Amino acid sequence: MAETHQEIVSVLTEARVFPPPQAFSQRALLKSMEDYQRLWDEAARNPDKYWGDRAREELYWKEPFQTVLEWKPPHARWFVEGRTNLAYNCLDRHLATRRDKPAILFEGEPGDRRSITYGELSTQVNRLANGLKSLGIKKGDRVGIYLPMVPEAAVAMLACARIGAVHSVVFGGFSTEALQERMNDAGAKVVLTADGGWRKGAVVPLLKNVEAALKTMTTVEKVVVLRRTGDSLALNDSKLLAWDALVKDQSDTCEPEWVESEHPLFILYTSGSTGKPKGVLHTTAGYSVMASLTTRWVFDLREDDVYWCTADVGWVTGHSYVVYGPLMNGATTVIYEGAPTHPAPDRFWDIIERYKATILYTAPTAIRAFMRLGEEHPRKKDLSSLRLLGSVGEPINPEAWMWYREVIGGGRCPVVDTWWQTETGSIMISPLPGATPTKPGSATLPLPGIHAEILDRQGNAVPKGQGGLLFVTQPWPSMLRTVYGDPERYVRTYFSELPGKYFTGDGARTDADGYFWLMGRVDDVVNVAGHRLGTAEVESALVSHPRVSEAAVVGRPDDLKGTALVAFVTLKQGHAPSPELKKELAQHVSKEIGAIARPDEIRFAEALPKTRSGKIMRRLLRDVAAGKQSSQDTTTLEDLNVLAALQQNDE
Ligand code: WTA
Repeated sequence: MAETHQEIVSVLTEARVFPPPQAFSQRALLKSMEDYQRLWDEAARNPDKYWGDRAREELYWKEPFQTVLEWKPPHARWFVEGRTNLAYNCLDRHLATRRDKPAILFEGEPGDRRSITYGELSTQVNRLANGLKSLGIKKGDRVGIYLPMVPEAAVAMLACARIGAVHSVVFGGFSTEALQERMNDAGAKVVLTADGGWRKGAVVPLLKNVEAALKTMTTVEKVVVLRRTGDSLALNDSKLLAWDALVKDQSDTCEPEWVESEHPLFILYTSGSTGKPKGVLHTTAGYSVMASLTTRWVFDLREDDVYWCTADVGWVTGHSYVVYGPLMNGATTVIYEGAPTHPAPDRFWDIIERYKATILYTAPTAIRAFMRLGEEHPRKKDLSSLRLLGSVGEPINPEAWMWYREVIGGGRCPVVDTWWQTETGSIMISPLPGATPTKPGSATLPLPGIHAEILDRQGNAVPKGQGGLLFVTQPWPSMLRTVYGDPERYVRTYFSELPGKYFTGDGARTDADGYFWLMGRVDDVVNVAGHRLGTAEVESALVSHPRVSEAAVVGRPDDLKGTALVAFVTLKQGHAPSPELKKELAQHVSKEIGAIARPDEIRFAEALPKTRSGKIMRRLLRDVAAGKQSSQDTTTLEDLNVLAALQQNDE
C-alpha cells in the first residue's frame, strides 16, 4: 500500500466542497441528503424489502419472485423465482408511449448519422433475434460480439438477451489472439462482427482479425458480418455470412424468452492479477435492476434528456450505461463510433452542440487529454445544453475535475465521479447529483443498499483518513455470480482475502465526512488511459516472444493516461538489446493483446531484481520506473547490482 499512500497526498489537502446547485436540486429525482439518508436507512433496516421494492419498480416481471435473496456466502441468488426478459424491458414496454422517440442517436466517425426510434430498434432486434435462432442459437448458448461502436452493437446485445443467449462482447481494439482466447473460453457458437470500424480516419480490420482466428476458434460455427467500412463484403469462408442476408427475410416479431432471474445474461472478460483474463458472469434480473436504477438516480435521468456515455460497448461501462441502463429507462442514448479528436480536437464538443446533449459521462483520461489540447476547442462550441457531467474508470485528479466542471460544465453542472467495476455491474459509490455535496477527486458516498467498507487485511475497520482496502461487505443485486468456467477463481479472487466479503482490489480511504477517496489498485491490475489491464497479461505476451527470457511490467504514474506501462525485459542468451528489438517487442504485444496494451517504455535489463524466494520485486521496479531513488528496504534483494544496473540503464 505504500505507493498508493504517496499518490493520494495531493488530495488529502483538498478542501473544496460544491453543494448541488439549487436549480438542479429543485428539479432532481433525489433532492437532498435527507432523501439519500432515508433510502440508506430503509435499505439498511430491511434489505429484502428495499431491494424487492426496487426490483418490482424497475422491471416488468412475467413471473413474480417470492425470495429476494438467497445468500450462501459467497454465492448469491436474487429474485429467485422470477422470470423476465431484458430486451422486453428495454424495448417492448416503451412501445406504447415512446415508439417514435429516438432510442439511439448515432454518429459515425466519417460523419454519417442515424436516428433510430424505439419502434425501429425493436424491429431490428427482433429480426436479428430470429436470425440467430435460424442459426441454431438457443437459450444459454454463447454468442461473441466483436463490433465497432455502431447501433448494431446494441442490436446484437439486445437480440441475444431477447432469446436468452449469453453475449460476450470483445472490445474492437483487441487483437486476433485476444479474441480467440475469449471466444474459446466462452465456447461461443456464433460471432457477430463487421468488415471494419472507423478509428482516426483508418479502418480497424475486424473481419480480417476474425478470419485469422477462424481455425482456432474451435466452437464457432458461424460468423455474421455487418458491412460498415467497405463497399461490398468479400466473404471467403463457408462459416461467414452477411448480416443483411441473415435478417432480410426474418419476421419483425420475436416472442421474448422469459428467463429465470439467475439466467446468465453476459460474460465480459476483464483483467485480473494473473495472465488469463477472467470471464465475469452477470445474470439477468439483479444486473438489470441496478443498471436501470443507477442510471436514473446517478444521472438524474428525465424524459427529455439526450444522454451521452462515451464508453465503448467492449467495456462494462458500455454495457450498463450506453445500452442497458438508458434503454431500460426509455432514454435517448448517443453512440459515437470514433476517436475523440478526429478529425479535429473539438469533435466531442461538436457532438454535444449538434445533439444538444444534456448529460456527458466520460473518463478522466479523456478529460486530461482535452485539458492539454486547450480550452479554445470547447469554448468555440455551444455546450449550454449540458446539465450533468459524469466520470468513470480511474481516480480523477482534482485539477481535471475542476476543469471539467468549469470549462465543460460552465460551473453550473454537478459532476458525478462514479466508482464501480466490471464485477459490480453497476455504479456503487457516487454522488446523487441533486443531493450530495461533491468534493473534487472524491466519489463521495456509497449508494443506498451498498455496504462499502475500508478494512485492513485482518478485517479490522481502518480509521478515517487512513488508507486501507476497499471491500463490499454485503451482497448486491448486480454483483458478478462467478468467473465463467472457473468457479474456484471466483472464490479465490474475490472472497478469500476476507471470507464472505467482496474484495475490490482497490485501495481507498474515507475522510471526516465519510466520503470515499479511491487510491488505485492494490493488485497487479493497472488502469491505462481508462482501460483495465493486467500487468501479467502483458508479461505473458512479452515472454511469448522468442528472444525474451523474462519480463516484468509495472505501472508508472502518467499525467495523461493515469498510468503508463513500463516493461523490464531480459533477453535469452545470444540476443542483444537494440532499439529495433524494442519496437518489435512493442509490436508483438499489440499483436498478442491489442494496441492498448503496448508498453510505453521497454527497458532491457541483465536480470530482474528478485527476493531470495525468487519473487520479482515489483515495488522496487515501480520506483525505478517512476525514476524515484528507491527508499524501500532492499535487504531481501538477491543481487543489489541488478538494481544498480537498472537505475543506470536510463537511456
Ligand atoms: C477503477 C470500470 C477511481 C478502479 C467501470 C476499479 C475507479 C477499476 C473509478 C474497474 C473511479 C473505476 N474512481 N477508480 N470513479 N471507476 N475505477 O472493471 O480501480 O474496467 O477497480 O470497470 O477501475 O475497472 P473496470
